[in-house]
Amino acid sequence: MTRDMQSRLGPRIGWSQVTPRADYLNRRQLMAGAVGLGLAGLAGPAAAKLTYIPSKYSTTETPNTLEEITGYNNFYEFGTDKSDPKNYSGQFQPEPWTVEIGGMVDRPGTWGLDDILKDVTLEERIYRLRCVEAWSMVIPWIGFPLKTLLDKAGVQPGAKFVAFETVMRPEEMPGQRARWIEWPYREGLRLDEAMHPLTILATGLYGDPLPNQNGAPLRLVVPWKYGFKGIKSIVKISLVPQEPKATWKMLQSNEYGFYANVNPKVDHPRWSQATERRIGAGLFGGRQETQMFNGYGEQVADLYKGMDLAKDY
Ligand code: MTE
Repeated sequence: MTRDMQSRLGPRIGWSQVTPRADYLNRRQLMAGAVGLGLAGLAGPAAAKLTYIPSKYSTTETPNTLEEITGYNNFYEFGTDKSDPKNYSGQFQPEPWTVEIGGMVDRPGTWGLDDILKDVTLEERIYRLRCVEAWSMVIPWIGFPLKTLLDKAGVQPGAKFVAFETVMRPEEMPGQRARWIEWPYREGLRLDEAMHPLTILATGLYGDPLPNQNGAPLRLVVPWKYGFKGIKSIVKISLVPQEPKATWKMLQSNEYGFYANVNPKVDHPRWSQATERRIGAGLFGGRQETQMFNGYGEQVADLYKGMDLAKDY
């Protein structure tokens, strides 16, 4: 680790990194209580920097450790190895940050992230994350519903999809100097998916601001879809009438579809999607069965009524 990285990571190393998981979970309950009483700021110097409330949408499954969540990543702007994002994102500057919101909205413009967050209530959302590569984690995100932001912008009738773009910074993102991906990284959602209460923009995890390797300072989280839909370091959001470009679909459309709903019955052409490897479960942890819509079917299956999910993968 370079000295620069150390200094960037330094202030972000919080109690979650040095606290055993059970203590973290107890502490989290205390924090949630403190937030409820408006006492979060009094929780002491070791308290998380973000103020947030718990959510009914959180899973009770045990979260992965901070080390796992921040050391095993996909963020090709920093390289293709799972450790590259952690090793090479130290130079990346997530502050200050602006997001351009445009297309079919009443109030287009470029907003500072601080402005966007001013009157937003952050929530903790402990979600399962299922990567299309058949590994999974449980991550305690801090964020807010994407709908909150879209409502502020005022979605116009006729808008059917939301398009997202990651920042272009080849000088800070060494992976962007390789041309095998047509940068910037792009993703999209159908408008009803974007407005769904489970769909969030995350600004933190484990109570602290997002580490660079996880998509600082703002990334999308759609827990019933494969992880590649969760575009990181977002600078542009556009409301559009047609299905927008999506990076993995552009690269290999027979393997990666626009919907990318987690589906154990529709295999990737090169591997099965029936089971997954939970990171941290250990050599003898075994594989677990992948759930339809990553276990969020009760909330989202209605969005896809009448669709052939083998065709619209
Ligand atoms: N966003 C950008 N901009 N670039 C990427 O390479 N990788 C995606 C997604 N978002 C990616 C991205 C993939 S394949 C996954 S599985 C998740 O980020 C991983 O998120 P995590 O590293 O925070 O677990």
